[in-house]
Parts: sequence; structure tokens; C-alpha cells
Amino acid sequence: MNPIFPSILSTNFFNLQAKLEVFEKSRIDFIHLDIMDGHFVDNISFGPSMAKAIKGKFHFSLDVHLMVSNPARMVPHFIQSGADWLSFHVETDDDSSDVIAQIKESGCRAGLVLNPDTPLERVQPFLNGLDFILMMSVFPGFGGQKFIAASLERVRQMKKELLVRQSPCLLQVDGGIALENISGLKDAGADLFVIGTQLFNADNIEEKISQFLNRLSWSQR
Ligand code: DX5
Ligand code: ZN
Repeated sequence: MNPIFPSILSTNFFNLQAKLEVFEKSRIDFIHLDIMDGHFVDNISFGPSMAKAIKGKFHFSLDVHLMVSNPARMVPHFIQSGADWLSFHVETDDDSSDVIAQIKESGCRAGLVLNPDTPLERVQPFLNGLDFILMMSVFPGFGGQKFIAASLERVRQMKKELLVRQSPCLLQVDGGIALENISGLKDAGADLFVIGTQLFNADNIEEKISQFLNRLSWSQR
């Protein structure tokens, strides 16, 4: 699996199709969709129809990151619209075990997301049922923010916890990822990297993806 998960949040939507074609050429496997409800975070992005539109035209798997207050309510809509992976925030009031079960019953992979200031212990009770953990390295809501340096140590701690438990759970990191910090994140134990602005601001997206993959010593098969 290509470990770069482009987030389309920062793109100019008039160019989305062309950008997705470049990702396809660059052998990207997953597109990361940031779903914001204007309540859990101070921004509104897009909904299930975006997932459906991409799925109808491209072969990507869809990684849906729910930044919404009631994930249980939204999960069925995204499943119907083609989500393959679904993650939601542990900070919401919904019962995390119930939402994980709801996602997994549909055959999707389930992830739990942690804000940069949420204690790592919050995910511990759910580790067994999870396919991946998404650690935010910026506060959610907007693309283009600066990477929070303390995230590196949090990733290291989380990875240690997973290794102790011999958990197959993958570690995904999201926010402010750039060429300067991606190798450090990998060394700390991150498996998957959500990248928005750094890809969409690039003059040559294909070349930028290669540069990121080189830093990860990952080669296309
Ligand atoms: C932030 C989103 C991220 C963001 C990543 O709330 O979850 O996925 O779009 O974009 P950059 O790489 O610009 O931080
Ligand atoms: Zn995201």
C-alpha cells in the first residue's frame, strides 16, 4: 500500500479531477477525505456526495476522516457512498466501541482519531478492535497549519504501546507533514502519512510524491 494518503481539503476544487488523475498516475492507493461539520470543528468541508463522485470515476480506496460531533449518524451515509476506511474522533460523545462495531460490521476498516492534546490513554480501551489510529499533528479544522513538533514523541509513545501489545494496528499521522518532518515521523513509528498542502502547492505533484516516498525509502512495486 502506498503510505502517502493525499488529503484533498486544500485543493482548488475546480481542478480536482486533474489532480486526482495525477495521483492515479503516481500510483496513490488511498484518498483521504476530511469531513467537517462546522460543529466539532470550525469549518465545513464536503459530504458523502464527494466520496460517491470520486468512487464513481476513480479506482482509489477512500479513507474518510470524520471530524463531526455525531459520527454514529454519519457512518452509514459514508459507507453507502463508498468509504473503505472510516475514522472518527475519540473526543466525541458517541460511544467509541459502538461506532467501531458499526464500521466493522459494514466491512470497512475502523480508525480512532486523537487530537494533539488528547492523552494517549484514551484509545487504550479500544486498541483490540481497531485497524488504525490517526494521530493529529495539528488541531483539526484546516489544512496548511504548522506541524506540532511534540507529535513526534506522541507517535513514538503510541508505537511503543502497540508493540508491547503486539497489535497490528497501523499508525497514521495527519497535519503539517512536509519533506522536513516525514522521515522523523517514520522513524518514530508512523506507517501512513496524510498530506494536503504540501502536495497541492507543489508545482509538480508527481515529483513531490516521489520526494516524499524517497524520504520513506519506499519504492513502487
Ligand atoms: C486537518 C485535516 C488534514 C489536513 C491535512 O483538519 O484533517 O487532513 O487537510 O492537510 P495539511 O497537510 O495541509 O496539514
Ligand atoms: Zn484528515
